Amino acid sequence: MKCVDDFRLRFGRTELVPIMVGGMGVDISTAELALEAARLGGVGHISDALVPAVSDERFKTRFVKEKAKLYKFNVTNSDKSQVHFDLGHLAEATRNHVGKTMEAKRGTGMVFVNCMEKLTMNAPRETLRVRLSSALDAGIDGITLSAGLHLGSFALIEDHPRFRDAQLGIIVSSLRALQLFLRKNARVNRLPDFIVVEGPLAGGHLGFGMDWARYDLRTIVNEILAYLKAEHLDIPVIPAGGIFTGSDAVSFLEEGAAAIQVATRFTVTHECGLPEKVQQEYFKASESDIEVNTISPTGYPMRMLKNSPAIGDGIRPNCEAYGYLLDGNGNCAYITSYNREVALHPGAKKLSVMDKTCLCTQMRNFKCWTCGQLTYRLKDTTNKQADGTYQLLSAEHVFHDYQYSRDYKIALPESILALAS
Ligand SMILES: Cc1cc2nc3c(=O)[nH]c(=O)nc-3n(C[C@H](O)[C@H](O)[C@H](O)COP(=O)(O)O)c2cc1C
Repeated sequence: MKCVDDFRLRFGRTELVPIMVGGMGVDISTAELALEAARLGGVGHISDALVPAVSDERFKTRFVKEKAKLYKFNVTNSDKSQVHFDLGHLAEATRNHVGKTMEAKRGTGMVFVNCMEKLTMNAPRETLRVRLSSALDAGIDGITLSAGLHLGSFALIEDHPRFRDAQLGIIVSSLRALQLFLRKNARVNRLPDFIVVEGPLAGGHLGFGMDWARYDLRTIVNEILAYLKAEHLDIPVIPAGGIFTGSDAVSFLEEGAAAIQVATRFTVTHECGLPEKVQQEYFKASESDIEVNTISPTGYPMRMLKNSPAIGDGIRPNCEAYGYLLDGNGNCAYITSYNREVALHPGAKKLSVMDKTCLCTQMRNFKCWTCGQLTYRLKDTTNKQADGTYQLLSAEHVFHDYQYSRDYKIALPESILALAS
């Protein structure tokens, strides 16, 4: 049986190990994780979700504090339409995060940024244009457009000098979404350089309804491969969602996929941004501890651990500091739900909001434990230690396991005890 290393992903003349580590916001797919994937010859992703907050954390800037201070007067106001992002700050934060990551890049691989359209930031077009163009300014190798149809995203950057040299791709979950994207972007005369096809078992937001279980990644991938072939379009197709072993990956590569995108197995690595206590929750989870629910204000279903502290937490909307999900009119579904509970429980000290969550704040504080469906198998990828906790892995170990394993095997890491002796 073949292994992933028998295949290569090609972008023009560049050859890569066909493993992409997917974007995981907010800073779950850290620069360290992305840089490891690139060093090992694959593609790593950083995410630009809440990039001012990430810049504050990494570079001690004060973007979040400054925005919160500027709009302090509005904190108790349920109308958030006046809360806007400073586009200069947004550009600077993006250049910090992307630029410093690219400076640190070693090896033959690439680093891309994951850019979610659903982060509408109370000015969808303007903020997205700044995010995309600043990432290109800062030297990013490629951009993966996600969480949205991105029907106008290419046009926003068509005048950028790097528009035709950076790798630009899109995540879709159906042939229909891809066809729409291609049709709407035909005007800029530039095809995507890659297409990530994300199936229903992925982590984060899903491109499916609550009937996600009726869909199957392989079927969608094969439909898209057949369509591209019929249209004589030679675009690398990259399946994602539930690819847990190297052999799972090989089965897609043998059917014509150019690479695979994976994430869940990297959530329990040292390089991942999740706090270790949360990583232990991921290890411990059984299948019945994972659910797809509708608490994300984006309107997309999202997969997470059922014991995520974000679920039911009724904190005051924090849009003055964050506000990434405010639509073009300053609305967010969480604000509506929160206001309903306030009206129902006047004077209550603590509220519970069950139907939506303040996703910006909860993701920023690592309280929304989004995960892939196969998270329950993570415990089988490592050693359980004497104190009952699980040994964290290195990104290199997981990457190499995908790259070299055969026969659906998963290599355990050398135990910490053995390493110490
Ligand atoms: C913790 C976590 C966070 C994620 N966040 C994002 C995100 O911010 N944007 C995005 O496009 N995809 C996100 N995803 C999806 C992954 O990038 C990837 O496509 C998918 O999870 C791959 O499937 P796997 O996790 O089964 O390997 C996330 C996945 C996980 C596990």
